[in-house]
Amino acid sequence: MIVKKNVSSIEQYLKQRRVNLRKKIAFIPTMGALHEGHLSLIKLAKDKGRYVIVSIYVNPSQFAPNEDFSKYPRTLKSDLEKLRKISVDLVFTPVTKDISEYTHQKYSFKTFGLEKKLCGKFRPNHYLGVSEIVLKFLSIINPDFAYFGEKDYQQYIFIERIVKQTILKTKIIMGKTIRNKDGLALSSRNKYLSEKEKNIAKYIYKYLKQSRLLIKKGQLISTVLKKQEDDMLKLGFSKIEYLEVKDSNLRKSNLPHNKSRIFIAAKINNIRLIDNILI
Ligand code: PAF
Repeated sequence: MIVKKNVSSIEQYLKQRRVNLRKKIAFIPTMGALHEGHLSLIKLAKDKGRYVIVSIYVNPSQFAPNEDFSKYPRTLKSDLEKLRKISVDLVFTPVTKDISEYTHQKYSFKTFGLEKKLCGKFRPNHYLGVSEIVLKFLSIINPDFAYFGEKDYQQYIFIERIVKQTILKTKIIMGKTIRNKDGLALSSRNKYLSEKEKNIAKYIYKYLKQSRLLIKKGQLISTVLKKQEDDMLKLGFSKIEYLEVKDSNLRKSNLPHNKSRIFIAAKINNIRLIDNILI
């Protein structure tokens, strides 16, 4: 496994590597603190026989000043061990100065307001920060495929829509949410949860499934979601930032159909967790 730490060295390396590479290139961007969710995206790419590149970079521009940038888990040594074990081909671990000085050709794209919905209401510059770094990575690496997790469906759809409008040829692929045995969606932020908080967090998925069942049985979406929110607050969640049903383009959906999802962002103390499921 090759590790590259700066833009010019990965660009140079890939220029040569591409010459005889008979594989498609798959890219999995991460902020490290790797878990089975990340590894499942890597496995998806490996199973297709792709040349797999993973980036590890905690991107400051997607965090607001009051968020958890400084305490975000940084576990580079064990991350690299995990990647080595599953034979990732190339890892990119840039430092902020280098990657922020890198400029690529400006892409113009419409965002369709996707960055303002759901998480965007509570994290106003988040998706612009995400798109900035992802577009940089895609420009440097120029992969055939890039993989994003379903748990962050809004991020997936946002990136998918904007990349399609650029000259980039990368196909954006979504990999399934991976859950622990209690149903909690895997996330690097789960590391912040105490045992007691984990016992509360597991109800996110339980309630999402219950709401899906009631909606499918014909109950009014607004009634079902109001009840879920009340029940979760009683159970110990400190805040439900949003709990909404949206279609695959994140438009409000008053009637369930097979592409709508229930989306939630819930806080336990100050730990913010998100999840979503297809109806
Ligand atoms: O999903 C994440 O971990 C991040 O938002 C990403 C895509 C690596 C960009 O920093």
